[in-house]
Amino acid sequence: MIATENIAQKPVKDLLQEYPFLEGFFEEQNIDLNTDDQRSIEDIFAEVDEEDREDFALDQDKLVDSMLAYIDQMMAFLDTKEDKGVKSLTIKAGTNKSKEPEKFEELTIHKSEIICIVGPTGSGKSRLLGDIEWVAQNDTPTNRQILINNDIPDKKWRFSSSDKLVAQLSQNMNFVMDLTVYEFVELHAQSRMVENEQEVIEKIIAQANKLAGEQFTPDTPVTSLSGGQSRALMIADTAILSSSPIILIDEIENAGIDRKKALDLLVGEEKIVLMATHDPILALMGDKRIVIKNGGIDKIIETSPEEKGFLTELEKMDNTVQLMRKRLRSGEILTSLR
Ligand SMILES: Nc1ncnc2c1ncn2[C@@H]1O[C@H](COP(=O)(O)OP(=O)(O)O)[C@@H](O)[C@H]1O
Ligand SMILES: [Mg+2]
Repeated sequence: MIATENIAQKPVKDLLQEYPFLEGFFEEQNIDLNTDDQRSIEDIFAEVDEEDREDFALDQDKLVDSMLAYIDQMMAFLDTKEDKGVKSLTIKAGTNKSKEPEKFEELTIHKSEIICIVGPTGSGKSRLLGDIEWVAQNDTPTNRQILINNDIPDKKWRFSSSDKLVAQLSQNMNFVMDLTVYEFVELHAQSRMVENEQEVIEKIIAQANKLAGEQFTPDTPVTSLSGGQSRALMIADTAILSSSPIILIDEIENAGIDRKKALDLLVGEEKIVLMATHDPILALMGDKRIVIKNGGIDKIIETSPEEKGFLTELEKMDNTVQLMRKRLRSGEILTSLR
């Protein structure tokens, strides 16, 4: 959302330079302008006499309001095709729960990097994700500051829902709406104004089914999805539909989804991914991991090739555990671990 206060005072020329698509808006409103008009909306209204104003049913406040809504919609639409120019995110140290300084100065994360956040329950993992979502400016309990492209970011990212910097996949997913899977994704696709709506919806449902253990169909009601299925749907939806350059994930592990595929899907899109996790496999999939203690960042560890090497072994063990779970669930009596 752009500043409402001065849009009526800005020369039309400047407005059009910033938002070229407004030309179409003015045409629709029957307002005659040329592209280097130095007058502002206010000036133009001052020139129109009372009678004409009634004829055109023009009202300055209403016009400015609908113009802002138009800009917001167009920006949201255009944003699906660009990356908002976010190249890096920087976390500047604050304090831990005892108000002591954190044990790092700053951490810069670049596009396509995956950063994991580990630490005991209650240590402050979700808080760190919250600081990033809120683009904290020393105004949260941790006193951290978040920079985008090494700069204090525009406040619009805090308040505009259509222009979100951050997509958050959270621990708790509760659907309250009485919709089918198709209708749910359709709603989201419509609000993002995607062009090839049906194709996108089908892609999301297909991807979600690849992540979920048990399959579901487009006409499954969202309220009857299992935890794993709804998580899978949200991940596919976020990966494919969200234009947010930063994705935050809060503990997706115990959800009955294919974690590796989910992560691949999410990072495939040149995003910055931060993920709080207790899962050793996910933790080692990250490029780095942030260790949190007592509310503060205690260490930042780069995943070494040696550690990455352990992943294969861990995945094998994990597959065994998954397989045993499946067999026990279906009533089998185990005779071997294969
Ligand atoms: N640096 C900090 N200063 C003050 N309070 C903090 C700090 N870090 C975390 N907290 C608070 O501690 C509590 C637990 O943190 P949370 O992020 O939920 O932990 P986790 O997600 O690791 O289980 C929350 O109320 C959070 O706001
Ligand atoms: Mg948490």
